[in-house]
Amino acid sequence: MTSNIESVVTENRIFPPSEAVMKSATISGRAAYDALCAEADRDYSGYWARLAREHLSWKQPFTVSLDESKAPFYQWFSDGKLNVSYNCLDRNVEAGLGDKVAIIFEADGGDVTKVTYRELLGRVAKFANALKAQGVKKSDRVLIYMPMSIEGVVAMQACARIGAIHSVVFGGFSAKSLQERIQDAGASYVITADEQCRGGKNIPLKPAVDEGIALGGCESIRSVIVYQRTGGACTMVPGRDHWWHDLTASQPDICEPEWVEAEHPLFLLYTSGSTGKPKGVQHSSGGYLLHAILTMKWTFDIKPNDVFWCTADIGWVTGHTYITYGPLACGATEIVFEGVPSFPDAGRFWKTIQKHRVSIFYTAPTAIRSLIKSGENSPKTHPRNYDLTSLRLLGSVGEPINPEAWMWYYNNVGGARCPIMDTFWQTETGGHMITPLPGVTPLVPGSCTLPFPGIQAAIVDETGNDVEWGKGGFLVVKKPWPSMIRTIYGDPERFVKSYFPADFSGQLYLAGDGAMRDAKTGYFTIMGRIDDVLNVSGHRMGTMEIESALVANPMVAEAAVVGRPDDMTGEAICAFVVLKQARPTDVEATRIANELRNWVAKEIGPIAKPKDIRFGENLPKTRSGKIMRRLLRSLAKNETITQDVSTLENPGILDQLKQNA
Ligand code: PRX
Repeated sequence: MTSNIESVVTENRIFPPSEAVMKSATISGRAAYDALCAEADRDYSGYWARLAREHLSWKQPFTVSLDESKAPFYQWFSDGKLNVSYNCLDRNVEAGLGDKVAIIFEADGGDVTKVTYRELLGRVAKFANALKAQGVKKSDRVLIYMPMSIEGVVAMQACARIGAIHSVVFGGFSAKSLQERIQDAGASYVITADEQCRGGKNIPLKPAVDEGIALGGCESIRSVIVYQRTGGACTMVPGRDHWWHDLTASQPDICEPEWVEAEHPLFLLYTSGSTGKPKGVQHSSGGYLLHAILTMKWTFDIKPNDVFWCTADIGWVTGHTYITYGPLACGATEIVFEGVPSFPDAGRFWKTIQKHRVSIFYTAPTAIRSLIKSGENSPKTHPRNYDLTSLRLLGSVGEPINPEAWMWYYNNVGGARCPIMDTFWQTETGGHMITPLPGVTPLVPGSCTLPFPGIQAAIVDETGNDVEWGKGGFLVVKKPWPSMIRTIYGDPERFVKSYFPADFSGQLYLAGDGAMRDAKTGYFTIMGRIDDVLNVSGHRMGTMEIESALVANPMVAEAAVVGRPDDMTGEAICAFVVLKQARPTDVEATRIANELRNWVAKEIGPIAKPKDIRFGENLPKTRSGKIMRRLLRSLAKNETITQDVSTLENPGILDQLKQNA
């Protein structure tokens, strides 16, 4: 992402908050922001305790705010009890919002279904009762492999209601990925659908669950619940598989919530790390929900009349926090969108905003970049052709947004009126960490600006000491915060090693990103991952995971994967492969490369398919046999090689590795 850093560093356009936004914003003006930060500095745990009392409904109030006795396994509000689903649904109905629309479901084909808070509560209660009748108990792990749907949200909320721990797997992951996640989480139930609808096509979902379980080691599974989305062909295993509609038909629409400790795990969400195996990031109930609510209120400035739309999938953390939990906990009306931005044409997002009078729109830079391109190629789908005057706030998430894309988003979608919240955060952080606030922060394209009030973000060198503003370093968080990851499920040692490494005194949370602060403003710019994790279209992919998938193919002797900058997807996956057979001819190479791409799609999922595949007789290695990854990164970018290559046994392989198959 070097080009982005350079352009941000020289970026001097500044967009201060408008009078109108400042007037209406919940946190308005720098003084209000500074006052919150000062309160957190004065009494850190008292600050979060105040917010947790004001924004959450507790069954049993807590007396302890931050408990550091088992650091870095920090605990928040641990002697308090609450229920997340109660906080999202019942309390809104009790506050008189029963008839307010909670979810507007926009189906792939354009059909619309609306549910009110009262209806949603009833549906969640019914499904929660069905889960209980199936034997689901508090702390059981329930794997959810669902399309974007009201039922997807209901499934997650129903788990929260009975204290079961959900683990949502994105619908684009393979049967093998499902099997690994079922095994790692020891999941006893799977909730899925017959098919999903995307871009006008019905794509089977249930077969991946069957195949995943058939791969073995999934004896923990007791039942599979299938939501009928399309009514397409679907094989049901007698005794194990049940239709959602059959299980819920006779269930009452009232279900007493299970009051759980604030630290009770709400969910696991698997994400890539720098080793081959994805990590089951474990989140809490109380602290997580607090941050979901605060960021909805402060970053998105959510108001009773807003229509909020986060375009993420519920399979990613953004969908968890800003679809399933945050908007509902704030009593907001939100869109749940099943389709893709390009169907029936690239005007779909703008048409949907116009149709539902969306006021807050939250999406990813990759989507914006692809829509810029489509708008150029087919002017009919350009945002200027739609009435987007309902918008008042925009958001960006998942990857750095290049200033050009930022300006296009600002001018063409936001009509130069709507501030853009460039929110930096991670699966592990639960919610926004560094972000502008609409009534406070002058915006600079490409910068996520300043920490959310109370978050102690900083940049340090390899010894853990602060670096000066204007210098790059490791992004860290100096104090625990309520919505932070609690552990890696089943692997507490890996949790400590990954996030609180001894080189940084074991006290600092290491985000895994490089960053720098502007010398004058102190604004943060994210420079990208410092570990072997790639960010492709805002999706995190471990290079080791893709390498393991490639070498599992019988044709492959050795493989190394690196990222290279890509105009559309931010980063692209580039694989260097040594086959067991002789290096293929050009014709053979194309065929084998496609075979390997499909293999990776089957092993991990289509999102992990390498864009470039290059074949060599060997990989460039140091004398001690280590793969020279820096050299591979240069080759991937088609840069002239400036590194010392005198140690290479066979410099000829560099020429081989320059050619894309
Ligand atoms: O590298 C950062 C990038 O995405 C990573 C987190 O990925 P994930 O856990 O999948 O969560 C994505 C959605 C929150 C980070 O380590 N990232 C996320 N947001 C931004 C970003 N990079 C730059 N700017 C952002 N706003």
